[in-house]
Amino acid sequence: MDILYLLLKIAAVLGMFTLMFLPLAKVTAWDDDSWYVRFVVSALATTAWVALLVFVPGAIIACAVVWGVLLLLSVRHPSLRNLLPFWRWLLSLRHRIKGDSPIFIVERVLGLRPIEDASTDFKGVRDYLAAYSGYDENGEAMLEFSCGISGVTDEFVDKTAKAGLGAMGAEFYKVEHLGPGHWLLHFWKTEPKNPLDDAIEIKASDLSDWDGKTVTYGLTEAGEPAKLSYAQTSGIVVGGVPGAGKSAGATLLTLPLLASPKASVAIFDGKGGMDWHWAEKAASLYNNDCDLDLPTATEQLEQLAQRCVDDLKSHPWSDSDPDFWHAGATALHPFHLVVIDERQTLFDVTGRSKEDKALVERCKRAVATIVRKGRSAGWCVMLLTQKPTADSIPTNIRDNCVVRFALRVTTREAAEAVLGSIPDGDPRPTEIPAPRRGGAVVQGEDGHTVAVRFAYLPVTEAARALESSTLETVVHGLEE
Ligand SMILES: Nc1ncnc2c1ncn2[C@@H]1O[C@H](COP(=O)(O)OP(=O)(O)OP(=O)(O)O)[C@@H](O)[C@H]1O
Ligand SMILES: [Mg+2]
Repeated sequence: MDILYLLLKIAAVLGMFTLMFLPLAKVTAWDDDSWYVRFVVSALATTAWVALLVFVPGAIIACAVVWGVLLLLSVRHPSLRNLLPFWRWLLSLRHRIKGDSPIFIVERVLGLRPIEDASTDFKGVRDYLAAYSGYDENGEAMLEFSCGISGVTDEFVDKTAKAGLGAMGAEFYKVEHLGPGHWLLHFWKTEPKNPLDDAIEIKASDLSDWDGKTVTYGLTEAGEPAKLSYAQTSGIVVGGVPGAGKSAGATLLTLPLLASPKASVAIFDGKGGMDWHWAEKAASLYNNDCDLDLPTATEQLEQLAQRCVDDLKSHPWSDSDPDFWHAGATALHPFHLVVIDERQTLFDVTGRSKEDKALVERCKRAVATIVRKGRSAGWCVMLLTQKPTADSIPTNIRDNCVVRFALRVTTREAAEAVLGSIPDGDPRPTEIPAPRRGGAVVQGEDGHTVAVRFAYLPVTEAARALESSTLETVVHGLEE
C-alpha cells in the first residue's frame, strides 16, 4: 500500500512538472531568453515546493515562513520572486497561452518587453498601445502599434518586423507609418495581392463634369479615388519608360478639361504621332509637328508665355484680386493648361544645329516662365517625358512643378529626376511591376509618395466623349 502511495506521489509530481512546461511548447523559439529562464526557474521551484509538501505535509508552516522571507527580500532583489511557487509562472503564462494577444505579438515581433525584474520605475510597465487582428481569410494579420519611446523609430520597427516574420509564421510584411510614433504592421502568409494590379477600366460616362479644380484619374493603393487638383498648380511632371502609360494617364487628366468651357488646353505632341489626335478639335492649340517645325513651336510657346505674363499683369478675372484661383475658373476666364508630350524630343539639343539650339533655349525659357509665374494667373504646364534625367527635366523647372507623377522607371536616377529624393519606406517608381501599366507614384506636398494607378480610357472612347460634349455645349448655347 505504501509503495502504491509513493508511486502515486511521484506520478503527481512528475505530472505537475510536465504540465508546467506545456505552455512553452509552441513559443520557446521566439521567447526572450530572460523570460524563458524565469519561467523555467519558477516551474522548477514550484515543482520542488509541491514535491516537498507532497512528501512532507508537515513542512507547510516552515515553507510559509521561507516564502514570507523570500517575499520580503524580493523588494530589494526582485529576481528572488522566481523562487516562489507559481508566481512568475502564472504572470508569464497569460502572455504565453494567449498567442494572439497584442502584448504577445509586440513582445515576440517587436521584442519590446517590460523589464519585470528591474526595481526601476519601468518595472512591468508596457508603455505602448497595441491592437492586433489575427490572420483573416486573405491570410493577412495586422498589428497597430503606437509608442513614444525614443529608441522606437521607423527603422527599428521596420527591422524588427522583418526579423519577426518567423515568429508570425509570415512570408511578407509591410510597415505603414500612420503618424509620429504610430505604425500599422501587415503580415501575410503568402504574397499579398496588390489592388493596383488589376486594370481600372472606366467609361467616358463615368467621368463627371470638371468642377474647375480637380479631376479624378484613378485609384490609390488604399482603394480611394486618386485626385489631382489644378488649383494653385503651375507645373506637373509626368515621367516613365516608354509604354508605361503616360499619354493614357494624361488622357484622364485632360479630358474633363477639354470637355469643359472652363479650361483652355494647348497640346504639343513631340512624338509627332496620333496619340493626341482625339483631342485635336477640342484643344485651343494642337501641334504634333513640333520636333520638325521648331520655329513654329517656339513661336507658339512664346506667345502662350506672353499671354500668361499679360494675365498676371492685368488679372482680367478681377479688378482687385490678383489671384486667379480665388474666383476660380469660369467660361469667361478659363484655366489654361499647356500639355507637352514627349518633351525630350522638343528640348533635346543633341545633334541640333546652332540655330535650332537657340530655338530650344527659347522654348525652355517660355516653359520656365509659365511654370514659375503661372500659378496665380491660372496657367499650368504639364510635361510628359520618357527620358527622365536631370538634363531633360532641368531641376529649376522640376522644383517648381509641385505635382509629380513617376510611372514605371528602371533606375533610381530616373526616379529622382522626376520626384526628387524619396523618403525611406515610401513607394518607389522603380518597384512598379512592368505589367501594371498606368501604375504611378505621386508625391504629395509633405514629400511622401503614394502609389496610384491611372484608370484606362481608350482614346476612341475619349474622342467620342468629346464629340458628345461639344454637341451638348452647342445645344446648351442654342438654348441660352
Ligand atoms: N492605366 C492603364 N491601364 C491599363 N492599360 C494601360 C494603362 N495605361 C496605358 N495602358 C496601356 O499601355 C499602352 C501604352 O500607354 P501609353 O501610350 O500611355 O504609354 P506612354 O508612357 O505614353 O509611352 P511612350 O513614352 O512610348 O509614349 C496603352 O496603349 C494601353 O494599352
Ligand atoms: Mg506617350
